[in-house]
Amino acid sequence: MRRFAHGLVSSLVLALLCSGGAHAATDPLAPAARWTAVTTGQAQKPPMGWNSWNAFHTDLTEAKVLDSAKAIVDSGLAAKGYRYINLDDGWWLKRRARDGRMQVRTALFPSAATGGADETSFRPFTDRIHAMGLKAGIYSDIGANNCSQAFGGPNTPNLPEGTVAEREVGLYGHIDQDIKLYFGDWGFDYIKVDGCGIRAFGADSPRVKSGLYRALPPLIDVEEIRRTNIPAVRKLYQQVADALRKTNPDGDYVFSICAWGSADVRAWAKDVGNLSRTSDDITPSWTRMLANFDSAANRPLYAHPGSWNDPDMLFVGHGDFDEHHLTEAKSHFALWSMLSAPLLIGYDLRNAPQPLMDILGNSDIIAIDQDPAGNQAVLAYDTDDVQILVKTLSNGHKAVAVFNRGLAPADVTLTARHLKFAATSPVTLRDLWSGTTLPAFSGETKLHLDPRQTLIFDASGSRALADGLYLSEMPGRVNPAVDGVVIPQPDPTIHRMINPWGATTDTGEPPAYTGWGGAQADATPYRQALRVDGRMFETGLGVLANSRFEVRADGGFRRFVAEVGVDDSTFDTGDVVTFSVYGDGKLLATSRPVRFGQPVQALRANISGVRIVELVARGKSARNKTPTVVTWGNAALLKD
Ligand code: GLA
Repeated sequence: MRRFAHGLVSSLVLALLCSGGAHAATDPLAPAARWTAVTTGQAQKPPMGWNSWNAFHTDLTEAKVLDSAKAIVDSGLAAKGYRYINLDDGWWLKRRARDGRMQVRTALFPSAATGGADETSFRPFTDRIHAMGLKAGIYSDIGANNCSQAFGGPNTPNLPEGTVAEREVGLYGHIDQDIKLYFGDWGFDYIKVDGCGIRAFGADSPRVKSGLYRALPPLIDVEEIRRTNIPAVRKLYQQVADALRKTNPDGDYVFSICAWGSADVRAWAKDVGNLSRTSDDITPSWTRMLANFDSAANRPLYAHPGSWNDPDMLFVGHGDFDEHHLTEAKSHFALWSMLSAPLLIGYDLRNAPQPLMDILGNSDIIAIDQDPAGNQAVLAYDTDDVQILVKTLSNGHKAVAVFNRGLAPADVTLTARHLKFAATSPVTLRDLWSGTTLPAFSGETKLHLDPRQTLIFDASGSRALADGLYLSEMPGRVNPAVDGVVIPQPDPTIHRMINPWGATTDTGEPPAYTGWGGAQADATPYRQALRVDGRMFETGLGVLANSRFEVRADGGFRRFVAEVGVDDSTFDTGDVVTFSVYGDGKLLATSRPVRFGQPVQALRANISGVRIVELVARGKSARNKTPTVVTWGNAALLKD
């Protein structure tokens, strides 16, 4: 397996090496003249709703789910946008031997026994959900077996039953059949597809060895990307995407990819599904929430209307986020909304204390998550103690979250520059927790934070760039179609906590989530300040050479401007890079070839009427094995 994976990486390198020519069909840097990230499905805004897993694990019943759905409607949360009621692991009984049709566990879902225990249907269940004005979600696995079969303990209830073959309830080998059943016959609107079946059932796994399950050689190794067969994982998820499109000609579905940030999903999930998990499972612990938050927080360029980062479901209501920890619960909720994350409640709403309902129901904060521009927040200030996140809203305001990660109170100075607002004009902050508007400030203001507190504001002021938008202010319109990463690497900046499923007897949790080196807003791919030949840029895009961004201008801008060069943090100091700007596929401007240590060059292009601007940085060779870091400093679209 290891040898195979290494071969795979070298063939990817080879493919890039051969791609320097002008052959459009094989050149990943040739302009696409279109937006290539996913726009199919129903995820123009991050999906909102409820999921059974964090509330009930596999101990779910139809009554519990319907009662939660009813609570969502009765409490007014449905009217605020929570509309998906999603089943997670535990609903299945077995795959019928004679024809492979999946059977529902009717002991849990009595209404599914439409034709007796053998001929089950979820249609009565989804009819009831739909009659409440809600949408219904189902859960499966991309492999033959599932996560509770892989990781459930001896007391895990509701594991699939029957023969080894009947217990193979995942999509593997049944993608078209199952998707047609779930969406065509049963009427579901949403599917989460987990990845345990292609991760945990190797021939040497104890559960396979004991004869409980058949072996499926793992495609994913979450701890070692070199042992992961990235193209094979992508291909399987793509088959699900294709089946969903075929079965739902009206496009009324959501496709949630759950591969926990492994398999280089950062680079490709946005081209395949509507949501992509960026980390392993959240637990109701503060430090685990930090890990999940971090896994998505510096990937804003990979989230767009139609394809979102998913740091996992909400744990508001449990453990460190229960009614006795409202500061932590509010932080968790505010941070998820800044990330444009799906807001999926994971709490038994039948008994929810009002303060928790008030957090989940904060309309101002929901509106930040659901803002139609779909710009995930960008880190404007970043330390291990305090972070400032800024999200550009469709009305020109900014949402700003000031987050105290630590256990000590913090005094924070928020500046107009953090917000990309003019320093000389008044800035107004409206506190989205209290609803109060603070006295306007110019330049900077001082804030005090309690331990673990997140202040979240709607900020209005005069934009520093009055007649346009910096590209780092509009990540929802910027797609790193090719981000230049040739050898994916784990991201060392993600908070690592005591392994929640283990103990401290091993050496600790290694960095596992690949994404290091991916494109960044206002930072280099390795989270350093953008800097070319000694000149710093507070704003811009940082990316590796041999990359191509697609930018949605939608005919609304007249000029593209940037100052480009090889970043001072580059690893390869010998490469020669040419920067090009395309408008709807036509070359508009090209830089002279530049090297490390040479001054920035101004690039300008007339983009009147252009819908898709593409930014290509081409290295002389694909020597990205030693990465060449480039900077599109001050990159912006201007209106005049
Ligand atoms: C995985 C997923 C979780 C949940 C469980 C169910 O761990 O990441 O979100 O679906 O499986 O077993």
